[in-house]
Amino acid sequence: MSSSHSWQTLFINVNLATMTQGGTSYGEIENAALALSDGKIAWLGNIEQLPQYDTENVEVIDAQGKWITPGLIDCHTHIVYGGNRANEFELRLKGASYEEIAQNGGGIVSTVKATREATEDELFASAYKRLGALHNEGVTSLEIKSGYGLDLENEVKMLKVAARLQQSLPVSVQKTFLGAHALPVEYKDDSDGYIDLVCQQMIPEVANLNLADAVDVFCEGIGFSYEQTERVFKAAKEHGINVKVHAEQLSDLGGTELAAKYNALSSDHLEYLSLAGVKAMQQSGMTAVLLPGAFYFLRETKLPPVQMLRDNNVRIAIATDANPGSSPINSIQLMLNMACTLFRLTPTEALAGVTCNAARALGIQDKVGELAVGMDADIALWDIQQPAQLCYQYGVNPLSSLYKQGKKVI
Ligand code: NIG
Ligand code: FE
Repeated sequence: MSSSHSWQTLFINVNLATMTQGGTSYGEIENAALALSDGKIAWLGNIEQLPQYDTENVEVIDAQGKWITPGLIDCHTHIVYGGNRANEFELRLKGASYEEIAQNGGGIVSTVKATREATEDELFASAYKRLGALHNEGVTSLEIKSGYGLDLENEVKMLKVAARLQQSLPVSVQKTFLGAHALPVEYKDDSDGYIDLVCQQMIPEVANLNLADAVDVFCEGIGFSYEQTERVFKAAKEHGINVKVHAEQLSDLGGTELAAKYNALSSDHLEYLSLAGVKAMQQSGMTAVLLPGAFYFLRETKLPPVQMLRDNNVRIAIATDANPGSSPINSIQLMLNMACTLFRLTPTEALAGVTCNAARALGIQDKVGELAVGMDADIALWDIQQPAQLCYQYGVNPLSSLYKQGKKVI
């Protein structure tokens, strides 16, 4: 055993919400210390048990009773897109529904037009601002989906922007290919033909370019059928790519049960999820991603089956779903509040939803999402007296500092 530890950063007089309990508790360690070394968490525990350490090269930070959580993870976003849909917002206020707008050539398809017209640099500039807003709220990892290009060139363009964002801000980006998001106009009346294109050309190409960590499908009446979703899953698996699904948002097509058969990482939205769907998620170990921003913005009234998910030990994650149509809200802190106020999650569950459980939804739980020795030192220091404050209040950012792989980035 070495006589003395060599660390780069040591927080003392700090409280830790380790989030190692999957949402059943904060995994608190009060009156604690936490040490970082080589970009990883090197030690944590009660300060009275602090071992001997080399005092020469370490920066000691007296946190004065503040709290540290894992860096936050937004596991479902569509932040790369062109234009905006404020006009549809107005139409909806005059009585049109989200589905009616989609059926009349608005909705996702109108963002596709704007995204195709935008250059890669233009998409990068607008997405950079959205990512910056999330980062300033404590986000150190997030997922970004394609799905507004809907042809090979433009889907690749979106995924390249996602890859570039990761180089430009200290945030890890998981890239998800969502070619099966909506039917592009050139395939009107030929949705099977479009799915052929997704499976035979787009998936092989994005796999080849290493631009997709996962493949997603919008399985819905206004999206793609159960059978079409299955074809996309098969193609993804043939290329060794994990799948996930937008399902049971507006109706129950059984997309979640299908996704479970393909060992999906997560099923997302879920307002219309049945007990059979919940059981399938439990058996396959999938994470349920709830999106309170979309529920709120679309003024949905059917609540996701939170109690059923709890009763069946399905892990729940929370995400912004930041996108121009159903959730133009780039705030993970607001999602913490809405998960509690709208979905009645406890603050403990909500915080687990943007840390440990969000990491699982992305398959990155071995590196991030919990405070534990050996995990990446992605940590957020909050000026709060108790963790529930992160959910309870909104509008004054309590983030005091943020570390990405051991480096102070805020
Ligand atoms: O997650 N459900 C499908 N996709 C998005 C909406 C995208 C849009 O309306 O532009 C969602 O809600
Ligand atoms: Fe979405």
